[in-house]
Amino acid sequence: MGDRALDVACGTGMVALPLARAVGRAGRVVGLDLSGGMLAVARAKAEAEGLMAPHGPLELVEQDVDAASFPPGSLDVITCSAAIPFLPDTPRSLATWWSWLRPGGDGADAGGRGGGGGRGGGVLAFNAFATPNTPEYGIFLRLLKDRHGIEVEDPCERLGSEERCRAAMAAAGFVDVQVVRDEFDDTRPRPLAAFVEGWWRQCASSPFAPLDALLSPGEVEALRQEFVEQATASAAQRVVGGSVVNRAVTFVVTGRRL
Ligand SMILES: C[S@@+](CC[C@H](N)C(=O)[O-])C[C@H]1O[C@@H](n2cnc3c(N)ncnc32)[C@H](O)[C@@H]1O
Repeated sequence: MGDRALDVACGTGMVALPLARAVGRAGRVVGLDLSGGMLAVARAKAEAEGLMAPHGPLELVEQDVDAASFPPGSLDVITCSAAIPFLPDTPRSLATWWSWLRPGGDGADAGGRGGGGGRGGGVLAFNAFATPNTPEYGIFLRLLKDRHGIEVEDPCERLGSEERCRAAMAAAGFVDVQVVRDEFDDTRPRPLAAFVEGWWRQCASSPFAPLDALLSPGEVEALRQEFVEQATASAAQRVVGGSVVNRAVTFVVTGRRL
């Protein structure tokens, strides 16, 4: 791996921290997230390991990745874990990330960085999700349509299959694209009520369905009550040991810039 990396939506630091360990003190990793709370969790972990700048390689920045800017060709690696469905214009984001990655091409990488044997450009890695990602999100979309005639895009839809991931990467200019399907049970401890409440918060704050702009406060509250009722009945069928278990189907996507 090279020594300059960006982790979009570093969140809990799941990827930013391993990247920072990998590049070492001479490298630079920028972990970027919209949420100050998520960054605080990552910062606490990174500080405990001495990974934070200026003594370590990691900078954590509270920013919308779509408003961020890096010099063209300046990054070796870009990662994005569990955040791609939140980006409203995926083709634009992928194309922008491609432009930030170091170009490869024959001989351009003679130092052998990136493990490409002299021909590898910078690498992008992210995960996408099959649709519907959880049945409860489907309930939200159906209620919005049935009660208010509002049809909202499922944000996982655009990259919700192996073929769509490949097509989006090719359209953005990436080569050597690999897509690996990964299916697993998400068994994080989440009691039923907290799970449903968490999903309502995600649905209600989605940039794809800005409820405050679409509905009156009374309509939002009525929608919330109906959602909680139906989502509770749905998720209750997947409670194991006091927690809701989610079957997650993801696509781990990698590609590089030529
Ligand atoms: C499901 S969490 C994933 C967190 C972490 N990356 C992980 O894998 O556990 C999605 C994260 O994306 C962040 N996010 C959503 N839209 C974003 C944007 N436009 N720019 C930066 N971060 C964004 C949210 O703040 C949230 O922390």
